[in-house]
Amino acid sequence: MSAYDKPDSWSLKAQKAGYPARSVYKLEEIDGKFRLLTPPRGGNPRVLDLGAAPGSWSLYILRHYPGAFLAAADLQALSRRYDGDRFDGPDFFFIQGDFTSPPVREELLRRGPYTAIVSDAAPATTGSRTVDVPRSLALAEEVLLYADQCLAPGGNLAVKVFQGPGAAELLGRLRRDFTGVRAFKPAACRGDSFETYYIGLGKRSKVEV
Ligand SMILES: C[S@@+](CC[C@H](N)C(=O)[O-])C[C@H]1O[C@@H](n2cnc3c(N)ncnc32)[C@H](O)[C@@H]1O
Repeated sequence: MSAYDKPDSWSLKAQKAGYPARSVYKLEEIDGKFRLLTPPRGGNPRVLDLGAAPGSWSLYILRHYPGAFLAAADLQALSRRYDGDRFDGPDFFFIQGDFTSPPVREELLRRGPYTAIVSDAAPATTGSRTVDVPRSLALAEEVLLYADQCLAPGGNLAVKVFQGPGAAELLGRLRRDFTGVRAFKPAACRGDSFETYYIGLGKRSKVEV
């Protein structure tokens, strides 16, 4: 078992709290710090979760924002171990597939616009930064395309990015599209990981909710 496979204190804490993955603490911290999921004009959030499996972020959203509508996508199925049938509810839509593909995009756009988009999506890592960073940036670019197409004005975005060449340009693009932009590494990120989250607050644009 590698150090990455071993359940650490964050993973054990997540399981005890009824979440399949430690990543829930990253969204919890981001949401607490930036009020990411609070809609700009009041009312219930409408959230898009890209790269959602095994489902901790989706469960966090459904548990903390009753009345929210949530659409989610992942290549993998969601874990059904902790959701207590929440993933069967009428305010939740999940599609298993590649969110960069046209049919998945169409299904997700059809259910928008959204007041927040979150993406914890990561490529299958090879251990080589020269391979993994561009793949992560390509996914993040696709997430920004969703923000262009279906994030409401004033809406917020959090997208995971592996740090490396090209990441600064992506941050520049966020600065153009959002009134507030931060690069933020939550405490629950593994110490040796080169992931960070780019946060876009208050989208400037024309999509109406
Ligand atoms: C770190 S996990 C997400 C964990 C999730 N936020 C949670 O809290 O349970 C990253 C996910 O991104 C997904 N992913 C990567 N590329 C994708 C793509 N093109 N389309 C859909 N999902 C993708 C992977 O399948 C993986 O499940």
